[in-house]
Amino acid sequence: MSFPKGFLWGGATAANQYEGGWNEGGKGPSTADMLTNGTHTTPRKITRTWEDGLYYPNHTASDFYHHYKEDIALMGEMGFKVFRMSIAWSRIFPKGVEEEPNEEGLRFYDEVFDELHKQGMEPLVTISHYESPFYLTEKYNGWASRELVDLYVKYCNVIFNRYKDKVKYWLTFNEINCGTMPLGGYLGLGILNEGTTDFMNQKDDPQLRFQGLHHQFIASAKAVKLGHEINPDFKIGCMIAFMTSYPYSCNPKDVLKCQKEMQMGNYYCGDVQVRGEYPYFAKQYWKENNIQIQMEEGDEALLKEGTVDFYSFSYYMTNCVSTDPDLEGIGGNLIGGVKNPYLKASDWGWQIDPDGLRYTLNELYARYQVPLMVVENGLGAFDKLEEGNKVHDSYRIDYLREHIKCMEEAIEDGVDLIGYTPWGCIDLVSASTGEMGKRYGFVYVDSDDYGNGSFNRYKKDSFTWYKKVIASNGEDL
Ligand code: BG6
Repeated sequence: MSFPKGFLWGGATAANQYEGGWNEGGKGPSTADMLTNGTHTTPRKITRTWEDGLYYPNHTASDFYHHYKEDIALMGEMGFKVFRMSIAWSRIFPKGVEEEPNEEGLRFYDEVFDELHKQGMEPLVTISHYESPFYLTEKYNGWASRELVDLYVKYCNVIFNRYKDKVKYWLTFNEINCGTMPLGGYLGLGILNEGTTDFMNQKDDPQLRFQGLHHQFIASAKAVKLGHEINPDFKIGCMIAFMTSYPYSCNPKDVLKCQKEMQMGNYYCGDVQVRGEYPYFAKQYWKENNIQIQMEEGDEALLKEGTVDFYSFSYYMTNCVSTDPDLEGIGGNLIGGVKNPYLKASDWGWQIDPDGLRYTLNELYARYQVPLMVVENGLGAFDKLEEGNKVHDSYRIDYLREHIKCMEEAIEDGVDLIGYTPWGCIDLVSASTGEMGKRYGFVYVDSDDYGNGSFNRYKKDSFTWYKKVIASNGEDL
């Protein structure tokens, strides 16, 4: 048996895409609440107020806010050991700047954590998953301002103290490295520059983005230090969107281009958060892109003192990198790249590559030598609700099975992998397109792209399959 005893099997969600109740219980609007719906080919819009005639899918999402007991019972039935979720910052501090937190918001998460423990699960909490109070975007242009560091640490202080006996596993920022890409300006950093109207084509300012990332590194390091003071048993991790690139050919020009893309796209942030210092290649990138990082005295020491306990990442797909402009490109939520002739793709063009997960786990473990956790993975697909409220999602089972096999091989290779939480374990709203129809779950949520439906929950075929996988600790695939 390869999966170690105590392996953390579970599933993952994020408040903005799953919770709903966007203006209930004293919650303030978050950056995600300003995003309209879109499709694979129509980008989501970002609006500064809610416009008539536009639909904002994150407002209702999957309505976990009113279904949490039922949902947690379903996860318990599958045998989850861990449930990854996020706290909506604007449920705790509606504008982000208040002196006192919102007690009703705190109580909601108390109830959720109690329910999880009742069902035998550890919560794994992302402190900020692609959202911050929208007020902070209006007042400070989000993380472009250093003001957000103290506001985030104040928020952490409240939730760490409140939940110190209920939550052990924390992640400081979801997919922090999306801030190295123009799309991540608004998504991860809450930066909304004049003239941006559309999520896929933002008015980008690399100086603000990389300075914003520096602020997040400082905030993350401070949170790690603070968390360990509050409870030395806390395990606090980073979270990276890992998108392995292969050189398209053995042309050394392709190999070099690929290496550069891997450095800035995948390693830049993890290197800071695990090793406590900027990697050597950062300086050259800043120089080439005319970026000047404003560091305050003590920042370098702080980064060293606030390194994470483990490394977590999402893994969906890989791409190829080529210097040949005539090769066919691919889609993806954050990256493009060139089509790999050896791989098949999802309906959204994401190339499916289980072996790439084994490769990635080995690469990461060789580089960092800290425990690893795969906190997102899965297949976004159109599901069909059939007679008797059944969903026959054998394609999803195939995808997950192949990835689990490759994780098992990586463990045999010697990688210290401690957990696996497939994405959107109960259907939720897609981050890149805002669709409900791009489903990842073991549980079907009866709602369409416009929030029409009963919101009833139905078990898919993958539900029974995953339950068996967990019960056998990964033996029975
Ligand atoms: C990751 C994010 O990028 O991928 C999630 O952390 C997101 O928030 C997931 O939902 C899947 O992407 P999408 O665009 O299919 O929702």
